[in-house]
Amino acid sequence: MAVLVTGGAGYIGSHTAVVLHEAGRDVVVLDDLSNSSPAAVDALRALTRPDLPFVEADAADVDAVGRAIADHGVDEVVHFAAFKSVSGSIADPDGYHRNNVGSTVGVVEAMRHNGVSRMVFSSSCTVYGEPTDLPVTEDSPISASNPYGATKVACEELLAAEAEAGGLDVLLLRYFNPVGAHASGDLGEDPRGTPDNLVPYLMQVAVGRRESLSVFGDDYDTPDGSAIRDYIHVVDLAEGHLAALDALAADRGSRGCTAVNLGTGTGYSVLDVLAAAGRVIGRPVPHQVVGRRDGDIQRIWADPSLAADLLGWRAGRGLDEMLADHWRWQQRHPDGYAAT
Ligand code: NAD
Ligand code: WQD
Repeated sequence: MAVLVTGGAGYIGSHTAVVLHEAGRDVVVLDDLSNSSPAAVDALRALTRPDLPFVEADAADVDAVGRAIADHGVDEVVHFAAFKSVSGSIADPDGYHRNNVGSTVGVVEAMRHNGVSRMVFSSSCTVYGEPTDLPVTEDSPISASNPYGATKVACEELLAAEAEAGGLDVLLLRYFNPVGAHASGDLGEDPRGTPDNLVPYLMQVAVGRRESLSVFGDDYDTPDGSAIRDYIHVVDLAEGHLAALDALAADRGSRGCTAVNLGTGTGYSVLDVLAAAGRVIGRPVPHQVVGRRDGDIQRIWADPSLAADLLGWRAGRGLDEMLADHWRWQQRHPDGYAAT
């Protein structure tokens, strides 16, 4: 029996593939490499096994996903494959909808045709929009504030309806802000072009690829005026997927469709992250405050208690460890996988 990891050549998928492999699962990666590279697959194989099965295919291709399931005896799926850039989704809303919802439809159909019922789905805290009450629980109101978020809401609704119709048991994992890298420094986040996200941008400044980080706003209603997020180590997140698959396999209250927050429960501001990065790197990271970024929310952090109760999982790694691991990856691979 094996686990199919769609989007497994990407940032979170590759770290999860390593954790699943180390836990004794047979891992099959399926990815179309639309936002990752063959070098990421090589890095993943170096940390797992040289012959780790890799299928280059679009997850929306029902036949290709079905073949991967049948050829490798897959009995559970983690579905990461999606586009994830908020700005990209504003520029290309229909492309985002087609890819993110289309791939989810493709994977569900292929699972159904092959009698596979257990799925873990990559959702996001973006489904909460700007929360009115903190921390956010899984019952907090859902409100997509951009086309990317709308694709996650649409996928959640589709999967809930499929589960309701029978034949699918799914855990919707709502990730907060993943950062960090594998402790080896040889697996990490390798954004194409200019990074949208805070930590990849900050690390590219620190390594000399970019001049200075723009801090988007210091006039929020927060203690230091900069916006607050719940940053989570990508390996903690990966371990959350292992716990979710184990809960589904053991049928621990996970029949049907259940949403679960994966966060630490602690919020840090942009200026907190900059200060921690300066400590970890050993020198301040050049930055300047600019205006707010359109569409940004001011504060969000998770109530992670359902994950502890249902999955027996809690995030264990702190902000300094996240940044130290991210920095190790960035130093060992200053230009990402391509240059190694
Ligand atoms: P990523 O872009 O690094 O990884 C996604 C992978 O999916 C890439 O390797 C890409 O090539 C592949 N892919 C995309 N569309 C595909 C398709 N149709 N068929 C096959 N492969 C396809 O992104 P990530 O940060 O690892 O995100 C993984 C998942 O987690 C996504 O669903 C994303 O929306 C979700 N998520 C990410 C974050 C975050 O901040 N990184 C937060 C919450 C949720
Ligand atoms: C974090 C903070 C920025 C860059 C996005 C998606 C969300 C989820 C996670 C997928 C914010 C500030 C950033 C910079 C900055 N992804 N910042 N300078 O916006 O919380 O969430 O990624 O599901 O859906 O929206 O993450 O890393 O972009 O920003 O000051 O150059 O850092 O304003 O306060 P965000 P982020």
